[in-house]
Amino acid sequence: MPATIPPPRFVFMEINKRCNLRCTHCDFWQRNDADRDQYFQTDQKLGVLDELAAMNPDASLVICGGEPMLDADDYFDLAGGARERGIRVLSVVNGTRIRRPEMARRMIQEGPNEISISLNSHVKSIHDATRGVDGAFEKAVRALRLLVEAKRELGATDTRIYVMGLVFASNYKLIDGFYDFVLNDIGADQLKLNFLQPTFGGKGEVDPFFAAESGVNGDELMELIARCDTKYALGLNPEWIEQVGMYFRSLREVGTPELGWNSNNQTKDHICDTYERNVMINHYGMARLCFGQQFRGELLEEPGDFTRFWNSAHDIRAKMRRCNAFCGISHSVRRESSTLKGREKRLSHIDTYGRMPAPSMARELLEGLREVRREMVR
Ligand SMILES: C[S@@+](CC[C@H](N)C(=O)[O-])C[C@H]1O[C@@H](n2cnc3c(N)ncnc32)[C@H](O)[C@@H]1O
Ligand code: SF4
Repeated sequence: MPATIPPPRFVFMEINKRCNLRCTHCDFWQRNDADRDQYFQTDQKLGVLDELAAMNPDASLVICGGEPMLDADDYFDLAGGARERGIRVLSVVNGTRIRRPEMARRMIQEGPNEISISLNSHVKSIHDATRGVDGAFEKAVRALRLLVEAKRELGATDTRIYVMGLVFASNYKLIDGFYDFVLNDIGADQLKLNFLQPTFGGKGEVDPFFAAESGVNGDELMELIARCDTKYALGLNPEWIEQVGMYFRSLREVGTPELGWNSNNQTKDHICDTYERNVMINHYGMARLCFGQQFRGELLEEPGDFTRFWNSAHDIRAKMRRCNAFCGISHSVRRESSTLKGREKRLSHIDTYGRMPAPSMARELLEGLREVRREMVR
């Protein structure tokens, strides 16, 4: 293994598959945790965190679901384990389980250092319709207000309270009002924009929500975002704004949005760098370099497997460098941060550890041959 591989920055761990909302853009609520006894166990997760902390003292853990807060014990055990190891914790939740001030305080004191609550709009009817449950808007907004209040009360200046806002055809023109509501009414630290991709977990042959809601005018959206940048002093990264425009222009050009993930449609440019910074570990302990299934992963079974996987995944990286799948726009995997501050953080990681070495042609060829051999053995 070349000694120059920089360590991972983020590890995503899924703790459940189920959910209590019914979003039109996500299929998680149609699953369950009936096979929970086969899940990656807490001590195995903590073992991975030991390895992560040894590789990168500035690494972060992202706790994922389903709706991860439905399993509160697992959620806080994992967050606590990470905090003990000096690992920063991030998590996106739907807000339905933060109903009282005590839970908001617990989140600030024992939960993630960056808490994002998903909101599809500042307009109640848009949020509720796309989250599939009446009253979801009030619950998300109540959670946000409780968290902002708990943060203030506890003087927890290091904890960040974010809104994760999903942008699609029916809400993108309202983006100014969305920023105003999140920053000035709720008082959250940031509105993070997340752009509609084909339905999460969607395995059906057609994707009606994506077909209906992916028709965003990319140029108009870029202008709207740039205006909000000035109006609300957001410090946005112009390269990211360009990529958002490119994403929606690419979607318009494909012509078959109804196929969702079942097509080979791609964005024009390569915008993802997940293979240089992330490891995604699913419920069963399968480690991959992205959320998709199209690139090989490795099951983590023994101590040291996580480190070995990261340091030996050259073949996966070589393929991912040529991947322009739609998920490249996701905030978890895209190369460009939305803010200039986030961009600086990424550059400082490169300053500390150096760049991921570009694969030489000889190594790519060798990895290609190894992959062919693996396929033949399977
Ligand atoms: C899969 S959810 C899991 C966490 C939690 N249940 C929640 O909704 O916040 C994580 C994020 O993915 C977003 N998401 C779901 N379906 C999506 C899609 N098709 N395209 C883009 N983002 C999506 C959600 O809005 C949410 O902010
Ligand atoms: S986006 Fe989150 S809240 Fe909505 S169904 Fe998926 S997991 Fe549940």
